[in-house]
Amino acid sequence: MTNNKYIEIDKKNYLQTFGRYPITLDYGKGSRVWDVEGKEYVDALAGIAVNAVGHNHPVLVKQLQEQVTKLMHISNFYLSKPQAELSKKLVDLSGLDRVFFSNSGAESVEGAIKIARKYAHSIGRGGEIISFTGSFHGRTMATIAATGNKQMQEGFEPIPAGFKQVPFNDIKAAKSAVSKETAAFIIEPIQGEGGINSIDIEFIKELRNLCDEHNIVLIFDEIQTGIGRTGKMFAHEYLGIKPDIMTLAKALGGGVPIGAILSNEKVSSAINFGDHGTTFGGNPLACSAALAVLKIIESENLLEQAKEKGQWLKNRINELNLPGLKEIRGKGLMIGVEFDFETKPLVEKMLEKGVLANATAGSVLRIVPALNITTDDLEKVIDVLIESLKEL
Ligand SMILES: Cc1ncc(COP(=O)(O)O)c(C=O)c1O
Repeated sequence: MTNNKYIEIDKKNYLQTFGRYPITLDYGKGSRVWDVEGKEYVDALAGIAVNAVGHNHPVLVKQLQEQVTKLMHISNFYLSKPQAELSKKLVDLSGLDRVFFSNSGAESVEGAIKIARKYAHSIGRGGEIISFTGSFHGRTMATIAATGNKQMQEGFEPIPAGFKQVPFNDIKAAKSAVSKETAAFIIEPIQGEGGINSIDIEFIKELRNLCDEHNIVLIFDEIQTGIGRTGKMFAHEYLGIKPDIMTLAKALGGGVPIGAILSNEKVSSAINFGDHGTTFGGNPLACSAALAVLKIIESENLLEQAKEKGQWLKNRINELNLPGLKEIRGKGLMIGVEFDFETKPLVEKMLEKGVLANATAGSVLRIVPALNITTDDLEKVIDVLIESLKEL
């Protein structure tokens, strides 16, 4: 069947909420994917920062195959070997004290909000969560409230109460927003959907101090930045401060849905038996995938690769004198190229020419490929970018 035939099926049957590109993908290998008509693409989007080790990585595939034949799912009434191993691994890597597994990013943020509120109430504070303009925290009811983008909230009222937004990187605004009601601040070390905007180091240090002063919980949403994306396992390692809670998802399972909420002992201790739960979260299959992803990142030195290749890509784009280029932002392989025009038509042109990328925040081209993408594949991304800009 052709791309169009599948798209007709989708249009007729699927809830029409995604503005999809006109292709239907069939299989992938490394950073290459093929559509159902056999056309090949370089994948510079990696499922929006999910396929960190590329498609079909042999170590991940083998581990999943083995786990499928052993145990895919059990209730969280029981423990599985992969869950115990993964919890230890993530606690060791993060320096935080406890972990809870979920199925997605939004669900991790929901869990983080619950832990923060439970802790805040236990010390006599209110439950308000403060986030930042340009942030993105998910599409469930509480996470659209945290995201604060009116477009995402419209028509879904009443929006859950207890959320407030202040300007990104503005410590004065953050300070004046704080009251006895404040439970937590939630922030992305680099805003992903918001256009690859980095946190200011002085600002975040002051925010950490502000939180310590008032016993407010600091949540880092590392759903997009975590698991090696920026060249460190967690992007906040660049900042020299630690959060009380960190959310993860996306790259953690390398394509198998899994999220995680990590928290320090202080806030974790507010959670009692029965306070939170999940059926699927942390099942043996998903945990086994995450263990394989972490193993691959270590054995293939992917943090270093992300740093080097990201820098290479930024340098390459910088020396090209691209028409309409305003700024190149980001760290490691989380790169935003801002132009002085809307980038959606550019992304469509690039797709026609065999590269998957993404437009975000209107005028930003987002490049978040697998951490092990080859230089040849990155060269192709550059060539296609140049050709596409010429034809726009
Ligand atoms: C920083 C951040 N938080 C939360 C989410 C929501 O994750 P999910 O789509 O898995 O629910 C995303 C997704 O893009 C994200 O980038």
